Amino acid sequence: MPADTTPEKATGNTAADGRELIRFDKVTKRFGDHVVLDQLEFNVSAGKHVTLIGPSGSGKTTILRLLMTLLKPDEGTITVDGDYLTHEERGGRLVPAGEKHVREVRKKIGMVFQQFNLFPNMKVLRNITEAPVHVLGMSKDEADQRARELLELVGLTEHLDKYPTQLSGGQQQRVAIARALAMRPKVLLLDEVTSALDPELVAGVLDVLRDIAHTTDITMLVVTHEMNFARDISDDVLMFNEGKVIESGPPEKIFNDPDHERTREFLSAIL
Ligand SMILES: Nc1ncnc2c1ncn2[C@@H]1O[C@H](COP(=O)(O)OP(=O)(O)O)[C@@H](O)[C@H]1O
Ligand SMILES: [Mg+2]
Repeated sequence: MPADTTPEKATGNTAADGRELIRFDKVTKRFGDHVVLDQLEFNVSAGKHVTLIGPSGSGKTTILRLLMTLLKPDEGTITVDGDYLTHEERGGRLVPAGEKHVREVRKKIGMVFQQFNLFPNMKVLRNITEAPVHVLGMSKDEADQRARELLELVGLTEHLDKYPTQLSGGQQQRVAIARALAMRPKVLLLDEVTSALDPELVAGVLDVLRDIAHTTDITMLVVTHEMNFARDISDDVLMFNEGKVIESGPPEKIFNDPDHERTREFLSAIL
């Protein structure tokens, strides 16, 4: 990293102060009769890296999609940085949030998906500047400058003038990471971001994420099956099963000496 690309500059985050950034309070999500999240409770403090593990279908992606407001909870509330995500207080009562409120709170969250979803008709640099200019109203020059810093951070400076299809999957995913950070989110959500990559490209993406985790104080909520990576970056690991957190703790505890038989079973199946 060059001297002028300090972590704070790269992510726009200042020192973490331990306040609560995400809170799920008795969140239930159903699809038809299927209860996917069952009165779910958890929270994530500012600056922490929390990893969600658990079997396929246990509701991990649903949690991230709720945070992105792509889904709405059936019951319960989600709070982001002190603001209700899908509700707002009016006249002392909690009512469903209006679109404007959701848009504002939603700006605090950035997400990288399994599929990179870059804009295919835009070059790399513009993929990164588009939202800061059009959503945040950042000047073109500032957005450009920031995109270049982020491309440096993800090791892609020499590719800024290419189209996504001219890049490998690993490089595209690193652009997607830079694009998410360009919005200066307080929380970065990562949903199995290496699952769609050829095996030889996985390490490069995980290295970039390790670097971001270790050199910045952005809050991260991560779903991954890469357990060595999870061990390296996580402050806390939450084990999900059937819509509930069945145990949580530091990675050493969860990976080496879990309390739950279900956790042991899950880990031995994937490790
Ligand atoms: N849009 C949807 N409609 C109906 N069922 C869904 C929808 N999205 C997810 N589900 C179901 O919810 C459960 C949890 O899914 P998901 O959150 O994707 O799990 P995970 O990411 O842990 O594999 C699964 O049984 C899935 O089939
Ligand atoms: Mg999933």
